[in-house]
Amino acid sequence: MPSENLLTWYSEHGRDLPWRRISDPYAVWVSEIMLQQTRVDTVHPYYKRFMARFPNAAALAEAPLEEVLLMWEGLGYYARARNLHRAARIIVERYDGQLPQSEQELNALPGIGRYTADALRAIAFDQNTLALEGNLRRVLTRLFDLHLDPRRPEVERELRRRGMSILPRGRASEFNQALMDLGALICTPRSPACHACPLAADCLALRNGTQEQLPFRQPKRPPPLRHAVAAVLHENDNFLITRRPEDGLLGGLWGFPGGFIEDGESNRLALIRVLKEQLGLKVDIINPLPPLGHAYTHFRVNLQPFACRGRLSGLRDRGDMRWVKAEDLDSVPMGRLDRMLARVVERTLHD
Ligand code: ADE
Repeated sequence: MPSENLLTWYSEHGRDLPWRRISDPYAVWVSEIMLQQTRVDTVHPYYKRFMARFPNAAALAEAPLEEVLLMWEGLGYYARARNLHRAARIIVERYDGQLPQSEQELNALPGIGRYTADALRAIAFDQNTLALEGNLRRVLTRLFDLHLDPRRPEVERELRRRGMSILPRGRASEFNQALMDLGALICTPRSPACHACPLAADCLALRNGTQEQLPFRQPKRPPPLRHAVAAVLHENDNFLITRRPEDGLLGGLWGFPGGFIEDGESNRLALIRVLKEQLGLKVDIINPLPPLGHAYTHFRVNLQPFACRGRLSGLRDRGDMRWVKAEDLDSVPMGRLDRMLARVVERTLHD
């Protein structure tokens, strides 16, 4: 049986990951949310810090959102942290602090979609289901030699049907994680190590020599480049930062005031427009600071910051605006580009 070989391989070669050492649905949940779109190595230190600070749903539910976002800073996709926090509050209120176990109840929690509900059911509760993520898709596509785009819904159903046909009942937790590890360590996207694979004898792609062509891929275009501007405004030692609306890009995070440039607009005019719109502030631009860049998933951003001057005395702290000292910028949650700019600002002050 292919699954027996797989589970034996997993018991010898499976990765020793911190969320596998304890049997706690909350820990599995935190790890699954962190692992969405993020590599295991990146997640490791964040997971440990997060669990030390918020060891259970009650601790997470009690914490202010800002503290949760600060612990998340650098992991990206901050909606995950906001949803985790909201869901923790629901879990405390509705389920006495324990994660529910049914597909329907899990799916109804913020931030839990089909994949995560399946992963929790399988990994935390050993329910017979498949958590179809990238590794599982690749391994199963190769095992059954399926030359179809695995993102199409009917192909997804076929993959699920085939995977379920070899799932050993009652051992879904090990089985799913074994497939994840096999995909990460052996059945890699390029140059898979078929000689070391516990499924080699059953793998139809290996038999047909098609493993390197699978899974089927659509050619990708590079994500578009967007241009943004930001203003560094200070009065004495205090810098002006603003908070992004909760529902948009990097929602709830702080940063230097600014925004995207519109078609045909110059950097400088864009900055003057944005500051007027956001803060009702008229600014003079003093000089440009070094440009910064970052690639998000769906677009790349080139940010041109400017040192600015303006009539700042009327601007008082409020919910979405604050004055902070350079040395306190570190304690405010920010997105990647704003954090890079904060470092430039701190360095400039020290030079
Ligand atoms: N990716 C998502 N969940 C995972 C897990 N439990 N182990 C390894 N990689 C994963």
